Amino acid sequence: MITFTMNHPDMYNISNSMQKKAAVQCLDEFAKTINWNNNGDISVDLGCGDGSVTNILKKYMPRNYKKLVACDISEKAIKYANEHHSDENTSFRVLDIEGELPDDMREEFNHVFSFYALHWIHDQQKAFRNIYNLLSEGGDCLLTFLGYMPCYSVYSVLSRCNKWESWLKDIDLFISPYHTMQDPDKKVKEMMEEIGFKNISVTCKEMLYVFDSVEAIKNTVKAIEPFDMPKDVYEDFMQDYYAVAQELGLMEINNNNIGESSINCNYCLLVVCASK
Ligand SMILES: C[S@@+](CC[C@H](N)C(=O)[O-])C[C@H]1O[C@@H](n2cnc3c(N)ncnc32)[C@H](O)[C@@H]1O
Repeated sequence: MITFTMNHPDMYNISNSMQKKAAVQCLDEFAKTINWNNNGDISVDLGCGDGSVTNILKKYMPRNYKKLVACDISEKAIKYANEHHSDENTSFRVLDIEGELPDDMREEFNHVFSFYALHWIHDQQKAFRNIYNLLSEGGDCLLTFLGYMPCYSVYSVLSRCNKWESWLKDIDLFISPYHTMQDPDKKVKEMMEEIGFKNISVTCKEMLYVFDSVEAIKNTVKAIEPFDMPKDVYEDFMQDYYAVAQELGLMEINNNNIGESSINCNYCLLVVCASK
C-alpha cells in the first residue's frame, strides 16, 4: 500500500498559514472542552509534520504539562521538528498512525491531538482504534481533519487528463475519504461509537481561508504535494491546476483595482472531541 508523507517540512513551515489559522481557530473554540488535569498532563500530537502547529498547541496546554510527544510517519518531518521545536518536555518521534502501536505508548496519554492529518490515512478504523488505545482511562481527544476541500476536486479532474494521469495515478489514496461523503460527521461518530469512545461530538466546520495571491496557493499546494514533482513539471502542473480551479468555479477570485487577486477557499473541517 502506497503511503503519502510530508516531503518538504522546510517548505511547509513557510507555507502553512491556512493550517496554522485553522489550528488556532479550533483550539480557541475547543481547547476548553479538554479535561486538563493541571497536574502534569501527558499529551500526544499525531501527524505533526514540521512541528509548527505542535508549537501552537503548547500555548493552550497547562504551563506545568509533563510531556508532549508529537509523531509523524515522515522521518524528514520528525528530524526538522526535533531540530526546531523540541524542548525538555516536548519531543518528536516517528510513528505510523495506522500501524502497530509501540508498547510504551499504549494507554500512556491523557490527551490525544491531531491537526490536519487524519484525512491522509487510508485505514480510518485502525487509526481511530489506535487513538483509543493511546488514551489512558478517562482521557480525551481533539482531532481536526479535512472533509470537503476544493483542491481535491481539482486533483481528481487533472488525474483524468492524459498529461497528468501518470503523476496522479494514486490520487484516490491522497484525497480525503470524507471529501465527497454524505454526512461525514455521522459516519465518523458511528465508527467512534463502535470503537468505544464516549461523549463524542463531531462537527463539520465551514471554513474560509483567503489566499492573498495566486503564488500563495501554489506554495501551499506544493508544500503538501506528495508526488515530489520536479520544479519545471510542477510549474506546468500548477498552471493547469489553477485553470481547472477557475473553470470549475471552485475558488472565488476577488480582483482589486490595481489588478491583484485574492482567492477565497471554502472548505469543511471535521472537528472531533471525545473521551475514553
Ligand atoms: C498536512 S500535514 C499536518 C501537519 C500539522 N499537524 C499541521 O497541522 O500543520 C499532515 C501530516 O500527516 C502525516 N502523515 C500522513 N500519514 C501518516 C501516518 N500514517 N502516520 C503518521 N503521520 C502521517 C504527513 O507526513 C504530514 O506530515
